[in-house]
Amino acid sequence: MVLDRFISRAVERSRAPAEPADCVLSIAPLMLELMEGAGTFLQAGHFRSDPGHYARNLVYSAPDKSLSLYALVWLPGQWTPIHDHGSWGVVGILEGMLEERSYVRLSPDREADHDIELARGGVVLLGKGAVTSFVPNPDHIHVTGVPAERPRAVSLHLYGRTMTNFNVYDLASRSRRRIEVAHNES
Ligand SMILES: [Fe+2]
Repeated sequence: MVLDRFISRAVERSRAPAEPADCVLSIAPLMLELMEGAGTFLQAGHFRSDPGHYARNLVYSAPDKSLSLYALVWLPGQWTPIHDHGSWGVVGILEGMLEERSYVRLSPDREADHDIELARGGVVLLGKGAVTSFVPNPDHIHVTGVPAERPRAVSLHLYGRTMTNFNVYDLASRSRRRIEVAHNES
């Protein structure tokens, strides 16, 4: 019921506002409630980890591809590449502490895939119970993970589309490319 209620309200709130910023503003409080009731819908499989990389475990995917919810499990030392999602997102921390390091795109053409100049931004430490969000355009470019000296983290990620691809940035070649990922894999 907790999950069903969250999904139906998130669908409602993601359709009503025109702006992604309004969308995450209205959905972020729902993520707090979802985390409180996480024990009622998360199964053992949602806590699957992978020694090779952080694990994305699908919790819910809307039939019309408008929303997707994942449980991500981060073992110590596991990080994403530098990336953005091309959608809005709301993230809640269930366990441990997730670290997010941001980047800011300085080059003016935000659509370009080459000659991208990135500057390192700040860091956010997201402890258990924290909720964060992001919107596309400007792209939310970041690296997320758990340093080797910290324990495992588990987080819930709601995105404004089925997350089957995202942009990965390469600092050395100053470029980005769209990578396709299996629906429930990282
Ligand atoms: Fe991300």
